[in-house]
Amino acid sequence: MNINGFNMEYTDQGADIPLLLIHGYPLNRSIWEPQLNGFGRQVRVIAPDLRGFGGSDPVRGDYTMDLLAADCKELLDHLGLKGRVFVGGLSMGGYVALAFYRQFRERVAGLILASTKAGADNEEGKAGRNKAIQTAMLSGAPAIAESMLPKMLAPASYDAQPELVQQVREIMNTASVEGITGALAGMRDRPDSTPLLAEMDIPVLILHGQEDQIIPASVAEATHKSISNAQLHVIAGAGHLVNMEQPLQFNEAALAWLVTQSREA
Ligand code: MLT
Repeated sequence: MNINGFNMEYTDQGADIPLLLIHGYPLNRSIWEPQLNGFGRQVRVIAPDLRGFGGSDPVRGDYTMDLLAADCKELLDHLGLKGRVFVGGLSMGGYVALAFYRQFRERVAGLILASTKAGADNEEGKAGRNKAIQTAMLSGAPAIAESMLPKMLAPASYDAQPELVQQVREIMNTASVEGITGALAGMRDRPDSTPLLAEMDIPVLILHGQEDQIIPASVAEATHKSISNAQLHVIAGAGHLVNMEQPLQFNEAALAWLVTQSREA
């Protein structure tokens, strides 16, 4: 579908409770396969490939979190979903979900924040983004994939789930350089969303892998304390890609929460 001047690929599956699911970096919507398989028709999952990722067009420029959120909102508009939806995101997808809430809060029934954080990059983090931009421009997506792969899963998952390791490698290898560099610049420059947490009057579900090597579970615990109506599940045996590593626990927690919150909405 043509969204803000580029072709955006997306999945729209299921019925009833509308849930926008936003993937992380440098990934694509295929990470949500365990949720599409597990939620059944009870949840209508709308999962876009963000610009530059998966089947969506690579677009040059900086992908601010606000821009990525505006793309998602445009997709919902095109699908006729003009009321409130649940918005979930993993890692960078969580930064986009927070930007979505900041810009379009009247459209948000509740948030699912998976493997993510509200804070901005510190100076060291920003320097790391700039270095990664250089790496991507010089050596392409596979160099980024190889540097990130050892951190994406819980240490034990590398031996226990070799097919998952290969799947994650392939997903990252196929990201476009425009997508990687655009997202890195956008993450580097994203604002601190911590003050937003105290303003949240919607229900929030926080799901985090106990062994996340990229964003430690302690960060999710701090986020939980800052939001008035939040529920936290720290999932054992999972790292950063908690929804792929422990899909049953992830889906059970998400589905129970979605059903309860949609009844109360
Ligand atoms: C992600 O998984 O989306 C990224 O690793 C998040 C980040 O680099 O801050």
